[in-house]
Amino acid sequence: MFSKKVIVSSLLAALVGISSLTYANIKLVKTTDGSEIKFPEKALVGTDAEKEFLKSGKNIYVGDAKAEADGKKRYNMWSCTQCHGPTAKGQVGPGLTGPKYNYAKDATNKGMFETIWAGTNGGMGAKGYGLMAAEDGVTVDELLKIIAFVRSHNKDLSGNEGL
Ligand code: HEC
Repeated sequence: MFSKKVIVSSLLAALVGISSLTYANIKLVKTTDGSEIKFPEKALVGTDAEKEFLKSGKNIYVGDAKAEADGKKRYNMWSCTQCHGPTAKGQVGPGLTGPKYNYAKDATNKGMFETIWAGTNGGMGAKGYGLMAAEDGVTVDELLKIIAFVRSHNKDLSGNEGL
């Protein structure tokens, strides 16, 4: 009886340990007001890229041709192309390839993610899941692919510098 309890509680401890390791890592903040970004459950799909990003801020899709191609589709699907141009060099909206940005932090993948996920005060709407419309918007994994596509147009800036 006693040993069963010990086994159950150590199993539980292991489970709790694993889940906090996976998700309680870097803090992501909105570009609009600096408050913390909280993800609804459906925004997270559990890919390796998503886990690495939430842990370290690194986007492992940058330089991955398949992810960039997927990102291009989503970049078109979410109308980024209408405002930022087909190769992200700018149109109605600013160019996204850097090295200069309206929001300097966009030179990093973490910063660009924050700007796109929750939008800006200067004319860029939030694109993150649940923010643009209920039950709609990009997932964390999709946004990492979109950013990889944007980065593919400037090989000198991966956004992972220093990570
Ligand atoms: C309706 C037009 C429109 C659409 C659609 C749009 N944007 Fe924007 N975006 C803007 C404008 C305007 C700004 C400048 C906002 C500001 O300076 O606050 C901007 C700013 C940005 C920035 C910050 C650039 C910087 O210099 O710091 C990023 C990154 C960005 N957009 C990415 C995207 C992505 C990715 C998509 C698609 C998911 C997208 N945008 C869709 C209009 C748009």
